Amino acid sequence: MCGIFAYLNYLTPKSRLEVLDLLVTGLKRLEYRGYDSTGVAIDSPDSKNIVMVKRTGKVKVLEDAIQEHFTGGEYSEPVATHIGIAHTRWATHGEPCERNSHPQRSDEGNGFVVVHNGIITNYNDVKTFLRKRGYEFESETDTEVFAKLVHHLWKTHPTYSFRELVEQAILQLEGAFAVAVKSKHFPGECVAARRSSPLLVGIKTKTRLATDHIPILYGKVLPRSDSTSEFMPLEEKEVEYFFASDASAVIEHTNRVIYLEDDDVAAVRDGTLSIHRLKKSLDDPHAREITTLKMEIQQIMKGNYDYFMQKEIFEQPDSVVNTMRGRVRFDGNAIVLGGIKDYIPEIKRCRRLMLIGCGTSYHSAVATRQLLEELTELPVMVELASDFLDRNTPIFRDDVCFFISQSGETADTLMALRYCKQRGALIVGITNTVGSSICRESHCGVHINAGPEIGVASTKAYTSQFISLVMFALVMSEDRLSLQQRRLEILQALSNLADQIRKVLKLDSKVQELAKDLYQHKSLLIMGRGYNFATCLEGALKVKELTYMHSEGIMAGELKHGPLALVDDSMPVLMIVLRDPVYVKCMNALQQVTSRKGCPVIICEEGDEETKAFSSRSLEIPRTVDCLQGILTVIPMQLLSYHIAVLRGCDVDCPRNLAKSVTVE
Ligand code: F6R
Repeated sequence: MCGIFAYLNYLTPKSRLEVLDLLVTGLKRLEYRGYDSTGVAIDSPDSKNIVMVKRTGKVKVLEDAIQEHFTGGEYSEPVATHIGIAHTRWATHGEPCERNSHPQRSDEGNGFVVVHNGIITNYNDVKTFLRKRGYEFESETDTEVFAKLVHHLWKTHPTYSFRELVEQAILQLEGAFAVAVKSKHFPGECVAARRSSPLLVGIKTKTRLATDHIPILYGKVLPRSDSTSEFMPLEEKEVEYFFASDASAVIEHTNRVIYLEDDDVAAVRDGTLSIHRLKKSLDDPHAREITTLKMEIQQIMKGNYDYFMQKEIFEQPDSVVNTMRGRVRFDGNAIVLGGIKDYIPEIKRCRRLMLIGCGTSYHSAVATRQLLEELTELPVMVELASDFLDRNTPIFRDDVCFFISQSGETADTLMALRYCKQRGALIVGITNTVGSSICRESHCGVHINAGPEIGVASTKAYTSQFISLVMFALVMSEDRLSLQQRRLEILQALSNLADQIRKVLKLDSKVQELAKDLYQHKSLLIMGRGYNFATCLEGALKVKELTYMHSEGIMAGELKHGPLALVDDSMPVLMIVLRDPVYVKCMNALQQVTSRKGCPVIICEEGDEETKAFSSRSLEIPRTVDCLQGILTVIPMQLLSYHIAVLRGCDVDCPRNLAKSVTVE
């Protein structure tokens, strides 16, 4: 949902071409956050002006434009200190076009230029205010009001520092946003701030940093000339700073980062970083920690794969093991979830469990609900975050609410979290992104440890969310004697899972053949029930988002209540029929489909000749315990959507109109 990247070098000479290269690489890493348009801003060769290049479309288009625009000469001269800002956009206000691309500017002279992620909700009021003061607007974006408001404040408050101008502007704005601002009036400085949209600062120094913390300062209005007293916390002679929407954009430069909190304002001046709070609150810590990222650069590269999504599908034998690593002891049948273990007694006393998420993350809740009900013996509610909020759902102090989110930044999920927290519920985060908002705002939680997921369509995060919730169910039933046999059966199945996933992945070429049969159709129905209903929903979502084909996940029990009318000899149908407690019912549905001349593709268990006999096309998966089947059945669906997308010529990693981290409601 828009990616912000900014780079500042202090006494570390770099040419403008090198800075541009860094900015473009940063944007490539953030491209999954939006790819409607892109843009960069750097200083002109005489350092008196700001030059911007913006393009509609993906980063590659911008890269080509930059290569054309900036050719050698004065742009290859090294500069001791320079600041460049960059943006990749997922359009919210205003169509995707160059005019609406970021950076947005304050005036024709590019006095202040801004890159922004999020939405400024009161931008119309601010626009009216600024119009009355003579400002004319050139885009339809909400971002432009930010640039112009800072400019207005600069004219009316000539003594304010750059950081104070940005702070004052933020205080007038409502909504969720992260911004990075550059100004020709404050060369060599950069100010960035966050409110509900993610932003981190990366720090690269030649020598090891002398501190692990940066004290927080509380904004007081200082005259512009008073530079020393407000900037003192981090003093390194040669330093490079990065501002980025997420860690994947900085990991190739540094693993030392500070995750900014809401209402933090970070400013770099004379090479020194300082972090300020907009408002003082009693429970604020006195410092922000400089953390060390555990991510490796290979994790964010495609390697030998054609697409990130393909790589992430094939990583699943490892990612599920990483989710269990250090938590499941197969020899002693013990499970420890360090992030929630102290809360387990409280959770056991709760009124009900609520599982809340969006899209694929929601499907992981659907997939594990039945097991959670069985092993916790508690009522389990599964909610789409947006609908949950629309209904003002009653929440009580003795509720335990799980917020499931790969990115940890999804606005609907985060809003739902805050809603439940205000009402006194215990908040448990299930996320893949360390340092994300959901992570930080939860009382406790589980990191799914699937590794960075870059393809916009979620794959390995789903299977790791699934396993995290299964592990939670196992922890909750540790002391239930009557459930021990069932727990052992599940633990045994978990220990075989990685090998079984490898086996399912070997179906790849068969699935590719199937995709060749299906890719020209308009629609695909995916049917199943019980533990596999979630696979139907998730499979249909993957097909829709990647291939732009219509697809529907249908609960097989509902077939006769309407969807059966869709079935004829030309409608593509895929049915999941496994030897589990709903096998007989699934077979009924299968017969209903075949007797209407439907010829479904069947996903069944290895060697199940009786079921296979109902169709000429089938995919056989290894047998596992019923509650984990969904992990094995979803993988053929991931592969199928991937292959159909390739055959239809769709951009697998960047489906149209979508972005990975949805930070707007
Ligand atoms: C689908 C997909 C989305 C996300 C949803 C929630 O492939 O990726 O449906 O699952 O936007 O995102 P997170 O999990 O980051 O909260």
